[in-house]
Amino acid sequence: MQIDIVTIFPEYFTPLDVSLLGKARERGLVDIRVHNLRVQTADVHHTVDDAPFGGGPGMVMKPEPWYAALQAVVDAGGPPDAARPRVVVPTPSGRPLTQALVASLAAEPWLAIPCGRYEGIDRRVLDAWADDEVSLGDYVLAGGEVAALVIVEAVTRLMPGVVGNAESVADDSHTTGLLEGPVYTRPASWDGRDVPAVLLSGDHAAIARWRRDEALRRTAAMRPELLDRLDLTARDREVLPDGF
Ligand code: 6GU
Repeated sequence: MQIDIVTIFPEYFTPLDVSLLGKARERGLVDIRVHNLRVQTADVHHTVDDAPFGGGPGMVMKPEPWYAALQAVVDAGGPPDAARPRVVVPTPSGRPLTQALVASLAAEPWLAIPCGRYEGIDRRVLDAWADDEVSLGDYVLAGGEVAALVIVEAVTRLMPGVVGNAESVADDSHTTGLLEGPVYTRPASWDGRDVPAVLLSGDHAAIARWRRDEALRRTAAMRPELLDRLDLTARDREVLPDGF
């Protein structure tokens, strides 16, 4: 997969060299290219913003540098057989980034992520180029860069070979529709607290049932609305508080 990121702050993306992502890049599993929007400006001040038409606070990102930057990404080319990238724009006014959307992005050969700042990018650029506009949640960040890092990390860890253990990806919170329950490691007793006995029992069916029960309880406590989307069995309902 190739991912092209366009930003006025390329230095935001040094974390892409670290850990899981850094290793995936080194191994050639993902080709991430960070481009500075300001190289597409012609004036001495490398201006990328201007006052909003109609008035109001803040500044809007000008269309010309964005057209030039996105066209330059396309012209530089992507993986074989991909004519253009899927363009994913982080914005607090987008639709929520879910694990299902992450999985659909992970199936693409080529992504481009334009990172807006200020009050956003001129709408005409988005009308012409955006395939998806996505939000991390109901709060406002200073710009799209942190969201782009989130998207890249969530997408990259789903690619074959990036996470060593494919099962750990399949069991993740949000992949199953439930939050993951608690996990434990040695020692079996620590600071007066014991690991639940079932986990030491060697009874794999009982352990699987216990894990599902804990996932159900945690989801009911933290994100009850997630349970509305699931087909719960009578056995599932036994472990949930009344009303589920
Ligand atoms: Cl994707 N961008 C910005 N600037 N703020 C956000 C966001 C994205 N998601 C939540 N808040």
